[in-house]
Amino acid sequence: MAAAEAAPLAEEIRALKQKLNAVILAHNYQRPEIQDVADFVGDSLGLAQQAAATPADVIVFCGVHFMAETAKILNPDKIVVLPDLDAGCSLEASCPADQLAALQATNPNFWTIAYINCSAAVKALSDVIVTSGNAERIVNAAPQDKDLLFVPDENLGQWVMEKTGRPMQLWRGNCYAHVEFRRDHILQVRAQFPGAKVVVHPESLREVRELADVVCSTEKMITFCQRDPARQFVIVTESGIIHRLQKACPDKEFLCAPAFDAMRLPTDGCRCSECKFMKMNTLPKVLACMRRLAPRIELPAAILQRAKLPIQRMLEISARPV
Ligand code: 13P
Ligand code: SF4
Repeated sequence: MAAAEAAPLAEEIRALKQKLNAVILAHNYQRPEIQDVADFVGDSLGLAQQAAATPADVIVFCGVHFMAETAKILNPDKIVVLPDLDAGCSLEASCPADQLAALQATNPNFWTIAYINCSAAVKALSDVIVTSGNAERIVNAAPQDKDLLFVPDENLGQWVMEKTGRPMQLWRGNCYAHVEFRRDHILQVRAQFPGAKVVVHPESLREVRELADVVCSTEKMITFCQRDPARQFVIVTESGIIHRLQKACPDKEFLCAPAFDAMRLPTDGCRCSECKFMKMNTLPKVLACMRRLAPRIELPAAILQRAKLPIQRMLEISARPV
């Protein structure tokens, strides 16, 4: 969105924020003009931590549905609005709660570890929640005498098993966008930009993770690129994060994998660096949801209560001194 078009909307959003005592939380994949109006921009873990601590009366959640649900679970008495209620997630969709319950019934010794990219109903069936930023730590803290069941992201689960050495049964879900990144893309980018560091999100396939200089959550990508002496980075995740990276490191160059533009390669229609769900939120929709205080996230009381436990467990383990 052009700056001149965004400016009057941003002004009204800021005024409404004051009037409503609202906080705007935005994920790293949100559009630049949304990030620029947010009070906090971060990864799923940072957003959950902010939601848990906010004194605001209204939470305007600029991300996808499961993230806004997490904010609601942590703040059942507050108003949580999501600019577009259809902003879902392929991982969330891959794991219906009734199918998870059926699998759990086959083994009473399961300890269910759920990636935060799942519905509130799945969280309510889980023992602990993880994000890509703390999964290794949380899995390391899981009880030794339990059979670990990891849902719904098979790729993140594989990565965590490699890091921790803890065997886990994996649900077969994936992020429709991250699995489009392929080994060939990375090899081509590496050949073209030999000095660049390759930074990969763990939702990617193993064949891609194996070629990475670092595999990490979106927030850790920011700190890695700030600290690393390289001048050029290939970012293998959703393109929205480039805005934050460029702000954090104005003198460095970020290539969004598969970097087809830079390499003048045919795209074959591949839009793997864009999550269609994250991009459903727009600045006009942010303003509209603040004017109307809708659409709101509402959840049944029983789900709200039960889903809080595994999220709090995650927040508590994440806050422990290292
Ligand atoms: P992060 O928690 O690393 O921001 O990832 C969230 C997500 O949806 C990745 O696709
Ligand atoms: Fe879900 Fe993938 Fe979009 Fe993240 S990028 S919200 S995992 S569909």
